[in-house]
Amino acid sequence: MHPEDPTSGQRRRRARYSGTHPRRFDQRYKELAPERYPGIVEHVRAQGGTPAGSHVPILVDAVLAALDPRPGQVVCDGTLGAGGHAHAILPRLLPGGRLVGIDRDSKELERTRARLAAFGDAVSLHHGSFAWMASVAAAEGGTFDGILLDLGLSSMQIDDPGRGFSFKADGPLDMRMDPGGGRTAAQLIQTIAPQRLAEALRELSDEPNAERTADAIIQARNRTPILTTQDLVRVVLAAQGTTPAAWRARARAGDSGLHPAARTFQAIRILVNGEMDALDRMLADLPDCLRPGGRVVILSFHSGEDRRVKHAFRDGLRGGLYDAVSDEPTRPSPDELRANPRSAPARLRWARRSTSELPSPGDTASPDRRRR
Ligand SMILES: C[S@@+](CC[C@H](N)C(=O)[O-])C[C@H]1O[C@@H](n2cnc3c(N)ncnc32)[C@H](O)[C@@H]1O
Repeated sequence: MHPEDPTSGQRRRRARYSGTHPRRFDQRYKELAPERYPGIVEHVRAQGGTPAGSHVPILVDAVLAALDPRPGQVVCDGTLGAGGHAHAILPRLLPGGRLVGIDRDSKELERTRARLAAFGDAVSLHHGSFAWMASVAAAEGGTFDGILLDLGLSSMQIDDPGRGFSFKADGPLDMRMDPGGGRTAAQLIQTIAPQRLAEALRELSDEPNAERTADAIIQARNRTPILTTQDLVRVVLAAQGTTPAAWRARARAGDSGLHPAARTFQAIRILVNGEMDALDRMLADLPDCLRPGGRVVILSFHSGEDRRVKHAFRDGLRGGLYDAVSDEPTRPSPDELRANPRSAPARLRWARRSTSELPSPGDTASPDRRRR
């Protein structure tokens, strides 16, 4: 690591670590101490990176255009994260409006509560899953004028090795969005049925070697528990005929292909957090959480999520729950992709709740509501 701060030009003494390299997340990234390294956050962004410990909100202008927040309205951000979208929406709700935020990550929710403190009573936060948005809506007085979901993980969650989401760093194999509850990825892997694992790898991440990879994981866990991210990386790479060292050498030689463990990590994370079930439940309850004419905007990062959103909006339009939905998803512009490569998979879809009376749950023209 270079002992100079690239943005100030002033020499700084390097922090002392017990080894040759900083070990901990908070030692490795200067962006986590912006008071000591002024300008570092801007510098990392200018290089097309995401400063560690922060999250760059995606498609902000398109979200605002589709949601159309107005003074006095109440908007629910069901995936509050770092509050990037919330920060852009809140000034448009004032005076008189409010933002209701939900996130299942208790740790990040408290940080974001502090970030949004300047908005005072205009912000109301709830810890939990957006799957239960109907209860939050009831607690907040009925229905919302707008709902935003920005699915998946924040950069803070991905970049913190202690959360176990990334195959790039060593850490406990945790992957829970809510660090306070539920099974960790290590516990899930230890008990999952082989067929279920293979099916998840196939269906949740299009893993072409699903059976072989699942088989290798099951054999490895039967020998000794898989407890860290790098334990899992070694097993998956061995199943695909390579090793971490060989893969690193290929990457150094210019192979920019997908890391062989990326798909496995994605499928296991989705299983650990029940992400598809939460989305299905939310999509079914969505029309009841919106006032007539209210709008919902959903950003997905996974083809399985985008398909569910597309079908729910299309069926809702046919059944009269919505009176307008987006034709095609909005995607990040080339400028946004350059500035924030993590925006690449994003797809934005929106729908507007019908202003007429909602069909009753028994109405055959309303397949979504029939399922509930
Ligand atoms: C992509 S980030 C949102 C970033 C946010 N829009 C911003 O601009 O800072 C997704 C967030 O949604 C949360 N999340 C994912 N699934 C959730 C669920 N079912 N219920 C509540 N929060 C969820 C994650 O914990 C994460 O903080």
